[in-house]
Formats: sequence, C-alpha cells, structure tokens
Amino acid sequence: MRVVVSIGGSVLAPDLDADRVAAHADAIRRLADEGCEIGVVVGGGGVARDYIGAARELGANEVQLDQLGIGTTRLNARLLIAALGQRATLSPATDYDEAAQALRRDEVSVMGGVMPGQTTDAVAAGFAESVDADLLVYATSADGVYTADPNVDPDAEKHEQLTPTELVDIVVPMSRDAGASAPVDILAAKLIDRAGLRSIVLDGTDPSVLVDAVLRGEHSGTDIVPGGTGEPTYWAQGE
Ligand code: UTP
Repeated sequence: MRVVVSIGGSVLAPDLDADRVAAHADAIRRLADEGCEIGVVVGGGGVARDYIGAARELGANEVQLDQLGIGTTRLNARLLIAALGQRATLSPATDYDEAAQALRRDEVSVMGGVMPGQTTDAVAAGFAESVDADLLVYATSADGVYTADPNVDPDAEKHEQLTPTELVDIVVPMSRDAGASAPVDILAAKLIDRAGLRSIVLDGTDPSVLVDAVLRGEHSGTDIVPGGTGEPTYWAQGE
C-alpha cells in the first residue's frame, strides 16, 4: 500500500523535543516495516508563523513570506529525516518527481513545501495524486472535519465520513471567512476531489494513532471516501 502522510508542524514540533520527533519517526518506520511505501510531508507550525510574523513587520511581500514558510517546513522535514536515519531521503525533496523517485528507491520520501501560494496540505495532496497513493492521511492538530470551525462555532459537529466533493463544500466557505480555520486548505480539498483520493483527517498528536489508521482503518477522525459510502477495504492489503 502506498501512503502519503502529512504531519503538521504543530504536531511534529510544537517545541523542539527530540523524543517527540523520534516517536513520530518510529510510527513511520513501523508502517514501512509492514510493507507500506511512505511519503511524508512536514509542515512549518509555530516556527513558520513566528518567522512570517516578523518578516511581515519588516515589510516582506507575500511571496517572500511564503518562501520563509517553505524554509521552515524543510527545516522540520530535516528533523524528521534525522530521526528516520537510513530509511529516509537524505534531504527534503523540492518537487513531486524527486519525491516520487525516492519512493521508487524504497526510501521513506520526506518533503516540506514546494512553491508559494499554498500550504503543505496541498503539497501532500499533490504528492499523493502524483504517485497514485492508495491513502492520504492528514495528521493534524484538529481531530477531524467539522460542520463548522469548532473554535468559532460551539454547535460544530464532527463528520465521520465525507465524499471529496462534500469536503470541498465545507472548506470553501471556511476559506472565505477570515476567522475560521479550515481542516485542510482549499487547494488540497480540490486536489482530493479531482483525483478521488481516499483520505483521513485525524489528530496526529499521538503517533500510534497513525499506525492504527493506516494498517487497520481504525481512528476517530474523518474519512474522506470517494464515490460515497462504500466500505473502505484498503487496510486489509497493508497487513
Ligand atoms: P504549513 O503547511 O505548515 O502551513 O506551511 P499551515 O497549514 O499554516 O501550518 P500548520 O498546519 O499549522 O502546521 C507554512 C507556511 O509555508 C508556506 C505558507 O506560507 C504556509 O503558511 N508554504 C508552505 C508555501 O508557501 N508553499 C508550500 O508549498 C508550503
């Protein structure tokens, strides 16, 4: 089974804790040991926001800010690569071809951001689409996709399952509302819809959650299932 995992910067490195990064690397290694081909896209988290905030005060334009963000995603990617040792690519891939080639070499293919104007949510969807991944997992600090932003709306309820088109319909109004934060960015949702990518959005704080979700389909987040309500069977192949 070919899997792309997006690990948010706020999940991997809310602060610099080597043990936490090692635990995430252990989960990835475990999946590779079970025979999964794994691509990992790492986010920038709070470090990206701090750099972007400082540079914005200094008058940097949006592209310059995005380049700083991309730099921090690659910094975090290098941290995960350090923890994965021999299993991983030597350095974060800078485009999808490079990332796909690493998968063909049987390496854990790690990358951060690739170009201004998006976030690593979209990178993960683009990577998954480019390698025809069986599964795309967003290990985020949110525990699924809600009917509205749960930080803003106390009546927001978590979806157990959605189609990709329903995901787009949820994300579009959130991306228009400056106060709301979408579970995945709008470009990612559109790529998931276009490619019909089987996806999961879950709380990745505890790395073992990722292993259960990929190998057994067990998680308490949201399943994005193309084509409606069919029972997903992908995890049976991973065991
Ligand atoms: P993240 O993907 O970490 O952004 O990229 P995020 O979703 O705001 O962070 P999390 O989910 O809380 O961890 C950090 C920043 O890097 C730039 C953007 O500015 C983004 O906000 N970036 C990232 C790009 O411009 N292009 C990319 O391909 C990736």
